[in-house]
Amino acid sequence: MAVKPVGLTGGKGVRVTGDQLTAEAAVDYVREAGYDEWVVEERLVGEEFTVQAFVADGEVRTTPAVQDHKRAYEGDEGPNTGGMGSYSDTESTLPFMTDEDYDDAVAVVEAVVDALPGYKGVLYGQFMLGADGPKVVEFNARFGDPEAMNTLSVLETPFIDVLTAARDGEPLPQLDFSGEATVCKYAVPAGYPVEPDAGARIEVDASSVGDALLFHASVDQREDGLFTTTSRSFAVVGLGDSVAAAEADAEEALSVVDEGFHVRHDIGTAELVQSRVDHMRELRGE
Ligand code: GLY
Repeated sequence: MAVKPVGLTGGKGVRVTGDQLTAEAAVDYVREAGYDEWVVEERLVGEEFTVQAFVADGEVRTTPAVQDHKRAYEGDEGPNTGGMGSYSDTESTLPFMTDEDYDDAVAVVEAVVDALPGYKGVLYGQFMLGADGPKVVEFNARFGDPEAMNTLSVLETPFIDVLTAARDGEPLPQLDFSGEATVCKYAVPAGYPVEPDAGARIEVDASSVGDALLFHASVDQREDGLFTTTSRSFAVVGLGDSVAAAEADAEEALSVVDEGFHVRHDIGTAELVQSRVDHMRELRGE
């Protein structure tokens, strides 16, 4: 089973039995965490992915699938975080999914929009792709973090056109994407998320990341520069004509990041992406 408090938990509230804890420990977590209401759900096994969409007046414009990495340490070990990084491919799908899987997820997003006739804004659908296709993990009325950085970095349609069309009640523009793969990696304070150590100087700036993009997150701006807080510090997004090329771009941008930070260097690597593909093949009995 999966348990989650009803309320905002910074993306870190879910506990999954059999993976992170026993059923008894889940009961203790519920008793001790101090929330009045809880969601208890089926434990879903598979590969997670996100589909974000722009929505206005019943119209939906979906964006390519992205895979986030919630666990703090390489190999998907350690505690849940707000998200350590994410990748997207040159097409709308990810390497472990079929076109049909993506279309099934989009159909769910469209059904949710049908059920919310007045909704205007970004819709974030998170899915678990299992042997029976995608199942909903959660929906949010916001962008995903870090997924927004993957998606908006390859959106060629001016974002402002989407926003003004939604505001003015006009048809949303069709979305064009650059067709590049993206790999986003967060640099977080050492010890994050359990005992984060704030105060490390952030040396990275837009001029030091080469072709990659730099997004600051939680930083402490002092007279003598930027320093870490106890939350995720900054992310770099590499772009390329394959996930591997985008990953290399992101890693190059991170080459100046050293002491005081933790990065999941495995995100977007050929080895980790292949392990996702193998996992899906195993679940599908292929
Ligand atoms: N990537 C997880 C979230 O934005 O909720």
